Amino acid sequence: MSGADDGVPSWHQRVATSRKEISVALHRLTTITIGVPDVVTTAAYYEEFGLAPAGDARFSTVDGGEQLRLVPSPRRRLIELGIGVDDPDDLDRVAANLARLDIAVERAPAALTAVDPGTGVRVVVRAAERLRATAPPPSSVNGPGKANRPTRRADAVLREAPVRPRKLGHVVLGSIDLAASERFFIEGIGFKVSDTVAGLGSFLRCSTDHHNLLVQAAPVPFLHHTSWQVDDVDEIGRGAHALLARDPGRHVWGLGRHHIGSNFFWYLRDPAGNFTEYYADLDCIVDDQLWTPAVWDGPKSLYTWGPPVPPSFLAPDDLAELMIGAHA
Ligand SMILES: [Fe+2]
Repeated sequence: MSGADDGVPSWHQRVATSRKEISVALHRLTTITIGVPDVVTTAAYYEEFGLAPAGDARFSTVDGGEQLRLVPSPRRRLIELGIGVDDPDDLDRVAANLARLDIAVERAPAALTAVDPGTGVRVVVRAAERLRATAPPPSSVNGPGKANRPTRRADAVLREAPVRPRKLGHVVLGSIDLAASERFFIEGIGFKVSDTVAGLGSFLRCSTDHHNLLVQAAPVPFLHHTSWQVDDVDEIGRGAHALLARDPGRHVWGLGRHHIGSNFFWYLRDPAGNFTEYYADLDCIVDDQLWTPAVWDGPKSLYTWGPPVPPSFLAPDDLAELMIGAHA
C-alpha cells in the first residue's frame, strides 16, 4: 500500500484524480473475441474449462449467453471487447465522449466501435439485455458454535456435474500507454474507477462488479487474463482440479484470495498462453457513493493469501515473443 504520512491508512485514501467519470448506463461485458494461433486446440481447452460450445469457435456461459469467440491470429491477443448499454441513447453519449478525446468512432444504429490506443483492442458498445443470474441454493457451512449442516455431508463433496462458469467477469490488458487507455475507458467509454495500483494500472467497472477491466502498464499490448465467475470457492477448486488432472502444466497461480476485489482465484493457462481465471466472491459495488477507491502498492496489490506469486504471472513467459511479434 502507498505510504500514508499523515497516519491515515492508505487504503482509505481516495484516488487522487481529476479524471472525470462520465455517467453512462454501461451494465456489463457482453462478449470478447480472442485471436490465437491454433483455434482448434484452444477451443478444446475452453470447452474443458466449462464453457458451452455454440459452434464456429464460439462459447457461452450459463448466465451471460455467448461470451467468447476464438479466431485465427499469428499471435495471441484480445481483438474485441464488447460492452452492453441499456439503449441507443447511451451510444450517443459514449460517441460524444470519445469525440471529445479525438478518438475515431464507427457508428451503427445499435452499436459503436472504437479502438483503444494503448491496448489496440477494438471496443464495441452495443445495446444489450441486462444479465440475470439465479442465486445458487445457500450452502450450509458448519463452524464453531454452528452446526448448519447437522448429520450430513457437505454439498460441495457431493457435486459431480462439471463446473460451468456463470459469466465472463473481467479482462486484464497490458497497455503501452496507460494514461491513454485510462482516458479511453474512463472518460470515453464510461467505466468507473474502483481501485488503482500506483503507476501500474486501474481496476475499472462497467457493472456492479468490483472490476470488469484492469488496464496495466506493459511493454507490449497483450491479453493477460480473462476471468470467469463460478458459484463459490469449491467450484474454483473443482474446476482447476479437473483441468490439472488432464495436464498439470496448465497451472499458473492459485488457490488464493485477492485483496483488491476480495475474490478467490485460481489461474490456469490456455494452449495459446492466455491466462484464464476461475473466480468467486468478488466485491459488488451497488452504491457508487459508498465505495471509496484506494491506491495500492506492495503485496496487497496482488493478493491477501495464496501461494507465492510466480514470476511468470507478472511477466508471462511469451512476453519477449509477443514483443517481437508486435513489431513484425
Ligand atoms: Fe483477475
